[in-house]
Amino acid sequence: MMKMIAPVGIAAALLAANLLSGAQKGDAAKGKETFEQCSVCHNADSDEKKMGPGLKGLFKHDKLTNGKPVNEANVRAVINAGGNGMPAYESILSDEEKDNIIAYLKTL
Ligand code: HEC
Repeated sequence: MMKMIAPVGIAAALLAANLLSGAQKGDAAKGKETFEQCSVCHNADSDEKKMGPGLKGLFKHDKLTNGKPVNEANVRAVINAGGNGMPAYESILSDEEKDNIIAYLKTL
């Protein structure tokens, strides 16, 4: 009987570990450094337009320019796909770098 229960316990432990690491996802300080390559086109300290919109308060907005709600998934999609003058960062930045940038954007 115990042998049948053990795998469930392991799965639950793995799930808990995933949730914990998920909570720590993204390092805003590192994201700030990576954002330097974005700051050519984006202000971080105002919402004034440079090449692209200023990103101060981005996560406090209701919607992105593309009309979608501001959340991690949609901001990541914009970073990945670019368009309308913004480069696509899909293969330029690693997933970790994107996590860090998103963590940083949330602090603006
Ligand atoms: C060459 C200039 C350029 C660079 C570099 C650039 N962007 Fe952009 N970005 C733009 C433009 C232009 C838009 C507006 C696109 C549109 O209106 O559809 C934009 C839009 C965005 C948006 C959507 C904002 C909104 O309110 O809808 C986000 C988020 C964003 N950029 C993040 C980044 C990040 C993060 C980086 C760096 C990894 C970056 N951008 C690098 C030009 C740039």
